[in-house]
Amino acid sequence: MAKGRTVEIKTAGFAYRALIEAGALQSLGRSMRLLFPSTEALLVSDDNVFGLYGDMCLRVLAREGWQVKTALVRSGEQSKSLDVAGYLYDMAAETGLDRNSPIIALGGGVVGDLAGFVAATYLRGVPLVMVPTTLLSQVDSSVGGKVAVNHSSGKNLIGSFYPPRLVLIDPQTLSTLPRRQLIAGLAEVIKYGIIEDGSFFSRLENELEALLQSDPATLAAAIESSVCSKARVVEKDEFEKDHRRLLNFGHTIGHALEAATGYSYYLHGEAVLAGMIAAVRIALALEMVTADDAERMTSLMERLGVKPAPPALTAEQVIDKLSHDKKRRGQDQIFVLPTGIGKAVSLPVNDKRLIKRVVAEYLSGK
Ligand SMILES: NC(=O)c1ccc[n+]([C@@H]2O[C@H](COP(=O)([O-])OP(=O)(O)OC[C@H]3O[C@@H](n4cnc5c(N)ncnc54)[C@H](O)[C@@H]3O)[C@@H](O)[C@H]2O)c1
Repeated sequence: MAKGRTVEIKTAGFAYRALIEAGALQSLGRSMRLLFPSTEALLVSDDNVFGLYGDMCLRVLAREGWQVKTALVRSGEQSKSLDVAGYLYDMAAETGLDRNSPIIALGGGVVGDLAGFVAATYLRGVPLVMVPTTLLSQVDSSVGGKVAVNHSSGKNLIGSFYPPRLVLIDPQTLSTLPRRQLIAGLAEVIKYGIIEDGSFFSRLENELEALLQSDPATLAAAIESSVCSKARVVEKDEFEKDHRRLLNFGHTIGHALEAATGYSYYLHGEAVLAGMIAAVRIALALEMVTADDAERMTSLMERLGVKPAPPALTAEQVIDKLSHDKKRRGQDQIFVLPTGIGKAVSLPVNDKRLIKRVVAEYLSGK
């Protein structure tokens, strides 16, 4: 078994650890035993992930004396709702959770955001243990404390900042992850290299093929670098007042693409990848980044394979969604733009023609 790596993340209230280790699921019960003076826990998972890893988790929890109730939700974004949260509150009450009893989120970002939202609000907060099983959730959503459910008028509109007490990342779970999900997660991995960590970016240029082939050691090292990067950003600005906005690189146009296609055509990471390439083009046009650096960024991202837009989608439809972006400032869209490899800034962009041009370039496959 590869040696585990631990990343500590400091929040306003306490510090928590993200443990990254092949086979880490086996130590779930023991790691929790060391942290929480309780014997009750509620395990939240989706039907897909529970079928793969649920029995094993229940076994290792029982071995350490945990009495666990399981709450299963359907896999997919539609489970991130107040209705499903209501079902989890019922299960929390039935389990007899007290303020020391953890909720365990076993699954991808959907389960993490949903179970995290319930942990943040049930009894005004019970401990949250994240056991992320998609690459996206291992490198992004399980760390940093954003939890939310969706509202009919928008994604993630009802939520909070609520850091977990423990994040247990087992890269072995990625062996069952569909390739499309892996690539969507790799888009977020490249994001850290571009906005925050230039030496990680250079490593990714050499290691992308190994990552695409799910090489376990390379994946574990990339997860660690990504979690470290996210931890550095979040520690500087836990509540997203300024610096944390850098994590939204690619998200301005990415979100607009997702919204314009009814959240059913792209995986989040696929839309963000197209959005990151568009943002690099904007930065280049505004002479904020050199042509050489822009070329390196774009060619690394293109090696993931950029998902083509649906043929009927128009630039006007995408721009229309941009103007509803909750992160815009007045009439201006806020973009995160790279200023070099490993450096980025967040700023309003008012050149509407430029924005439309880069959207149109993506839509036409340029
Ligand atoms: N809180 C944050 O900071 C943050 C950041 C980014 C994204 N998000 C949220 O994360 C969500 C997306 O997360 P996601 O991409 O992990 O999607 P997801 O949770 O829907 O998982 C994707 C699919 O993979 C399946 N799956 C999960 N792990 C698997 C495994 N090991 N093997 C096989 N199948 C597996 C799931 O059942 C699901 O069908 C969105 O709701 C997004 O808003 C939150």
